[in-house]
Amino acid sequence: MDRIRIKGGHELCGSVSISGSKNAVLPILASTILIDGPVLLRNVPRLKDVDCMCRILNLIGIRTNRRPNGDLEVEAFDNTGYKAPYDLVRTMRASFVMLGPLWSRRGLGEVSYPGGCVFGHRPVDLHLKGLQAIGARIDRQDGCVTLSGPVTGGTVFLGGPFGSTVLGTANVLMAATLGKGVTYIEAAAQEPEIADLCKFLTACGAKITGIGSHMLVIEGVESLHGCEWEVIPDRIEAATFLTGAVMTNSDVTITDVEPHHLLAVIDRLRAAGATLEMGDDSVRNVPTSTGHITAVDVTTLPYPGFPTDIQAQFMALMAMARGVSIITEKVYPERFMHAAELMRLGAHIRREGPSAIVEGTEQLAGAPVMASDLRASASLVLMGLVADGHTDVGRVYHIDRGYELIEKKFRGIGADIERIREG
Ligand code: EPU
Repeated sequence: MDRIRIKGGHELCGSVSISGSKNAVLPILASTILIDGPVLLRNVPRLKDVDCMCRILNLIGIRTNRRPNGDLEVEAFDNTGYKAPYDLVRTMRASFVMLGPLWSRRGLGEVSYPGGCVFGHRPVDLHLKGLQAIGARIDRQDGCVTLSGPVTGGTVFLGGPFGSTVLGTANVLMAATLGKGVTYIEAAAQEPEIADLCKFLTACGAKITGIGSHMLVIEGVESLHGCEWEVIPDRIEAATFLTGAVMTNSDVTITDVEPHHLLAVIDRLRAAGATLEMGDDSVRNVPTSTGHITAVDVTTLPYPGFPTDIQAQFMALMAMARGVSIITEKVYPERFMHAAELMRLGAHIRREGPSAIVEGTEQLAGAPVMASDLRASASLVLMGLVADGHTDVGRVYHIDRGYELIEKKFRGIGADIERIREG
């Protein structure tokens, strides 16, 4: 199993180009089940999760081909299969989002229930409630859920105890594009990744209004055709590098980003004392004379609030701040697995229900640590950049699921970081 080794204390300098968004491209790939004719996707990140989604598509009659320039060609050649294979689906929760498109395009859809997850209970009840409201007959057997019946359209409310559901919104809206009637999704997720999916489907002939708002209206059409599409930049990768720049007080510019998708993170980083300059498609961290970081509180919320996917990285920043900060998780109240590993590097963190109380310290020192999930591993890498000595992050496969060439990108701006290949 590979490890990433970081020697802390290096100032960074330069610019980092941000890749296409993982969480935008995964539902877009699932939506190609709905489409007749070739699709060409640009700005597709080279990630384990993207490879996994492509392998599942290949097994259900959809060809995928990476061109040497990185563009991805996708085209359905056999629309008869309706089961997403369990062995691959269980490795990636996001594949549950194939259920709606399979049912809508192929008349039947069968996907296994996603298994447990390190950040607590992650149900799919809202997905199923929404799909049922637009006509699905739901059968549950042998750990799988099967949908049948016509897609009729209808009115769906997708709000839950922790806000809306991102992939649940994607599941319902994708199924509705080929429905007979009109679907109204109230309390739809407003994440930019959902807006990107809607715009992509519109370019393929779908009729969707209210894009980017909490109310989506989808008028079913007979069929969808292919198109060329450029996936939006990954706002979470962007925010991760920006947080790293602030932690190291470095002159770093992230490029090829959509700064407006980062406003909640920029707001908190500025409150913590960072000087950030926003360009049209870039954000620059200008080093401050002291490099001091002030403790600030943060609460994760659905978009446009502060993203849960940056909570762990922000905790690493707060671990070196002056003062005490309270980090509250309102999307996944159990998503604190990284806290114990950050403490191995010297952080002072105490859990209080859905909050973590972080007391900043200057005494952070490298140690061997284990990644528990994708964003947790990113927080450990960031902490490694400022901790004294060496930090070895194990279970790097988590990071490869969602960050393209993370160590190369950090090395490109001066970090002392390497991948140690083992086994
Ligand atoms: N929820 C329910 N019922 C449901 C679905 C969700 O109660 O049927 C709850 C969840 O338990 C959670 C909240 O609603 O408390 C929000 O979950 P959501 O469904 O929005 O999450 P998701 O769609 O499964 C996506 C991202 C996650 C990201 C969340 C929240 C993808 C592939 N995944 O998951 O990304 O954390 O939205 O923004 O888009 C990551 O990239 O590291 C990652 C975990």
